[in-house]
Amino acid sequence: MIEKARENTLKNYNPKIYNDAVSSLGEKDVQVVNFDITRAIAKVIMSMFGPKGLNKMIIPFSNEPIITQKGDKVVKTFKNRIPITLMLLDLVKTQEKNCGDGTKTALLLTAFLLEKTREMLALGIPPQIINRGFSIAMNKALEILEDNVIQFDFQNEHQLVDIIKSVMNHKFTYHNKESHIALIVETLKNNTDLFFKSHNFVFSDIIFRKVPGKSVNDSELINGMIIYKDKPNLSLPDKITNAGILLIQKSLDFFIPGNKELYPKEVEINSKEMLQEFSQFRNTYYGNLARLLKQKGVDVILCQKKIKPYFVDYCASIGIVALELVGEEDLKKLTKLLGVNAISSFSDLSNIKLGNADSVEFKKISGDEMFFIKIESSKILTFLIRGGIPPLMDELEEIFNGSLRVAIQTVKDKKLLPGGGALESEISQKLKDYAQNYSNTYQIVINEYAKAIENLPAHIIINSAAEPLDLIPQLRAAHSNGQKYMGFNCIVNDIVDVVKEGIYDGYFTKKQIIKIASELARQIIRVDSLIMVYNRKLYEQIEKEGKEVKSQKHQEKVRKYLNKKDESLFSDLYNTK
Ligand SMILES: Nc1ncnc2c1ncn2[C@@H]1O[C@H](COP(=O)(O)OP(=O)(O)OP(=O)(O)O)[C@@H](O)[C@H]1O
Ligand SMILES: [Mg+2]
Repeated sequence: MIEKARENTLKNYNPKIYNDAVSSLGEKDVQVVNFDITRAIAKVIMSMFGPKGLNKMIIPFSNEPIITQKGDKVVKTFKNRIPITLMLLDLVKTQEKNCGDGTKTALLLTAFLLEKTREMLALGIPPQIINRGFSIAMNKALEILEDNVIQFDFQNEHQLVDIIKSVMNHKFTYHNKESHIALIVETLKNNTDLFFKSHNFVFSDIIFRKVPGKSVNDSELINGMIIYKDKPNLSLPDKITNAGILLIQKSLDFFIPGNKELYPKEVEINSKEMLQEFSQFRNTYYGNLARLLKQKGVDVILCQKKIKPYFVDYCASIGIVALELVGEEDLKKLTKLLGVNAISSFSDLSNIKLGNADSVEFKKISGDEMFFIKIESSKILTFLIRGGIPPLMDELEEIFNGSLRVAIQTVKDKKLLPGGGALESEISQKLKDYAQNYSNTYQIVINEYAKAIENLPAHIIINSAAEPLDLIPQLRAAHSNGQKYMGFNCIVNDIVDVVKEGIYDGYFTKKQIIKIASELARQIIRVDSLIMVYNRKLYEQIEKEGKEVKSQKHQEKVRKYLNKKDESLFSDLYNTK
């Protein structure tokens, strides 16, 4: 009886926890939103997947249109406030940041796992079981991945060329592939200390500068940096070897009001003579400073702020190149390149530290003058990308960036994996066998995970205009016969031994994909409601008013308490009287 009454009270008790600015979706609805949005984004990415995938043309809100083959760039354009979109964006960004490749695979695997989840939920399998089953399957998949590792030897040039080729395998590069592969191999071999021994190397130390003109084959690697700057004075030489470089953060325009360094007290000029005297002083000051810097070994000044034109000319007259308005990012990179800090005060010129470059040179490229700073054993590398039109150069940047990063990681790992879907087919086959060890429901979940992984080679086959219904059974048959390196080669559109044909995938890239895609799918499966502030202004107002109400209530309470006390105090007094 009491139980019943309690139940009824709970049923009728419906507290209003959402206000007018916040809405929520329950379990069924939120799952539909999450699965539908993932499916919609995956559909866009799907046709891009694999070496014969197609590109996307994107018109960003404020920039020039771009043509891209990269998954992360496409997902970025779908940015909105819906959590699932942001989670997918995070996934591709993390994959790109950590590996420089595998973004589309990561997104598609997540989407395939969620599609399987949708089917399993419809069968009545609880999300908790799917979540646990995916975790078991992921761990087993990673074990199977380890069993398929191929040892990589840096001295084996074939293997190195093959992994670079597999990552950059894209229709556009087919024409220029050889020279681009040679450029990456040369970059790796000439910078082993930087890539493999230096502790503070980060991938952003590889800069890409795109200059339209010439052909993509004229792209080159520069050990050092390039800054877009004109020669400030024609009397300066084009090239200086063994150059001392001074980096400066502050403005080299000293004669401005309020410069305490030069004028402890401000001087007022109120006559012609005083002006003449001041001009003379200013010229002498700039002249002396330029000579002093020359004595200290300065050949180049790179300044983040403005430099007074007089000073630029004084410097030029004694052979110093003074360049103003060097970008903040460039200056940061220059400090790393030259191993010195940028100075921010002229109070102690006896202690200035100069960076040293093997050479600095002004070069005109396609009508634009550029300043090259070269150092043989440089900590910063610059790819100068050439090409007829900007989209072509963008694509080349993506290709160089991805293949160089995977190659560096492969040399570090000393491991490779079979590509062309061979690994995915092997994982899928072995997982299906492994699922037999589990009871009914878990068996279904592990099997569905295996099928999701197998969808990856199926889509490379579809995008290569080959027939998955013929080729997937062939792949399955080969893998159940123990032929673990059988995969799909899109150049011949057939099932081949991918290791013999040199089609590889990066070890770190693939491992990362399996981990992050499975983890994200599991995270999404565990979500049972979506609570979202959809009217920010109203929400902020409620928050503000809420606080005021709180403080009013608090005041009221205090007042009541005090009044009560007073009454009792009076009554106490009265009583005692
Ligand atoms: N010759 C080939 N034949 C068939 N498949 C190949 C071949 N070369 C590479 N692949 C496969 O193509 C897939 C990679 O395709 P793609 O580069 O389009 O996607 P991604 O690396 O996930 O995305 P992104 O490069 O945009 O980050 C890998 O599974 C790889 O094994
Ligand atoms: Mg790729």
